[in-house]
Amino acid sequence: MATGVSKTKWNGDVQISTSENGQFMFHPIWQNGNSANRLYYGDNFTVMNDLLRDNTVKGNVRLIYIDPPYATNSVFQTRKQQDAYTDLLIGDDYIVFMHERLILMKELLSEDGSIYVHLDKNMVFHIKILMDKIFGANNFRSMITRKKCKSKNFTKNSFGNIADYILFYTKSTNAVWNKQYDPWTDEKILKEYPFIEEGTRRRYKRVPVHAPGTRNGETGKMWRGMMPPEGKHWQLTPNKLDELDNKGEIYWSQNGNPRRKVYLDESNGIALQDIWLDYLDINNQNTQTTGYPTEKNIDMLKRIILASSNKGDLVMDCFAGSGTTLVAADELDRNWIGVDIGSEAIKVMLNRFQNGTKTLDEHINNIKSQKCEMPNLFSNDENDNRIIINNISQHLVANYTLFANGNDLGREFKLPSYQQV
Ligand SMILES: C[S@@+](CC[C@H](N)C(=O)[O-])C[C@H]1O[C@@H](n2cnc3c(N)ncnc32)[C@H](O)[C@@H]1O
Repeated sequence: MATGVSKTKWNGDVQISTSENGQFMFHPIWQNGNSANRLYYGDNFTVMNDLLRDNTVKGNVRLIYIDPPYATNSVFQTRKQQDAYTDLLIGDDYIVFMHERLILMKELLSEDGSIYVHLDKNMVFHIKILMDKIFGANNFRSMITRKKCKSKNFTKNSFGNIADYILFYTKSTNAVWNKQYDPWTDEKILKEYPFIEEGTRRRYKRVPVHAPGTRNGETGKMWRGMMPPEGKHWQLTPNKLDELDNKGEIYWSQNGNPRRKVYLDESNGIALQDIWLDYLDINNQNTQTTGYPTEKNIDMLKRIILASSNKGDLVMDCFAGSGTTLVAADELDRNWIGVDIGSEAIKVMLNRFQNGTKTLDEHINNIKSQKCEMPNLFSNDENDNRIIINNISQHLVANYTLFANGNDLGREFKLPSYQQV
C-alpha cells in the first residue's frame, strides 16, 4: 500500500524561531518533517541579515562552503536553455558584493567554524586579500587547486585551463578538523611500502631515525655507540629507540645503519593534499547531474564537510545553485541552510531533493529518469506534481523548511507531495 511521507503546508504559519524583535524578512512557506534544515529563496545579503537576528543560527554555523559567481560577465543557462543565473558583476562592484557578504558569513560562523570559497583564476587573488583582511591572514589554511575538467584542446596562446581554486579559512585556530585520507592503491603501495617483514609478512617501508637540527637533550645523545649524523638529532630518545629495536621495528643495514620500519597496516591512507585531481565536474555520460550549470562534484563537497564538521553540525551554502552542498550535508547527517536568489535554482533543488539526479546521457537524450517522473512544480494540477518514489538509490532530501520573503513570492512554487510504493 502506498504511504504518504510528507505534508504540504502553505502560508507563513510555521515559525521555527523568533528574532530578538520578533520580526524576520523571510517566512516559512512550506515545511516537510521537523528538522533544522532551511532552504531560502532570496538574496543572501538579506537572508544572512535575517539569520544574524536568529540566535539559533548566529555563531552556530560550523561550516560554510560557497561557490559564488566568478565575475565572468556572462549568463549561465541550464541544459534546457533556461536562464539559471547571471554573473555580471565585475571589478570593484564584484569585490564590494563579496566583501559585504563575507563579513556576514564570518558573523554567522561559530568560533570553531570554517569557510571554503570556490573561485577561478580571475578573482581568487582579489578575494584572498579580502579574506585575509576579514578572517585574518593567520586563519588562512589552504588554497586548494582542483582539477575541474579533463585536458582541453586549448586554442588560445596559453596553457589549457583545467584548474580552479578553493580558499579555506577558519574563524580561529581551534577549528573542527578531521584529517582526510585517500585509500592506498596497489601501485602506490608497491612504490611506497616495498618491503615485507620476514615472519609476520607485514608490508613496511624504511625511514631514517634522525631528523635535521642538533639537540642538547636526550635525542642529541649517543645511541648504540653512535652519535646522530652531523647537524641532526635522533627522532626519538635512545630509550624509545631501544624499545623499537627490541620489538624488531628497527632495520639494520649491512653497514650498520639503523632505519625505522613503518607498517602499511598502521597507515590511515594517503593524507589528502592541496591539489585535488579526483573531483572533476561532470566528466562522462554516466555522471549524475541536475543539469544546472556549474554544478559541483558532490564527492568534493563530502570531503570538505567531513574535514571541517561533525555529525549534527550546521552547514551553510548561501550560493546553493543545484543544492550539491545541501544534499552532501544531508547525506552525512549534518543540518543545513541553503540560499539562492534564482527561482530556477530553487526549482532545480526541489526537484533534486524529491527526485534525485539523472545521468548526463539522460539529460542529453532527454530521457526521463527511470527512477521517477520529474514533477512540474509550476503546474496548478495536483496530479502533475505528485511524485511516486520507487527504489531510488540516491539520497533524497525530505526534511526541510522553505523560506521566502513574503507569502506571495512563496506561492510561486507548487510543491509536490510524495508517495512511496
Ligand atoms: C556557481 S552557482 C552555484 C553552483 C552550486 N555550487 C552547485 O553545485 O550547483 C552560483 C549560484 O549563486 C546564486 N546567487 C548569485 N547571487 C546570489 C545572491 N546574491 N544571493 C543568493 N544566491 C545568489 C546563483 O543564482 C547561482 O545559483
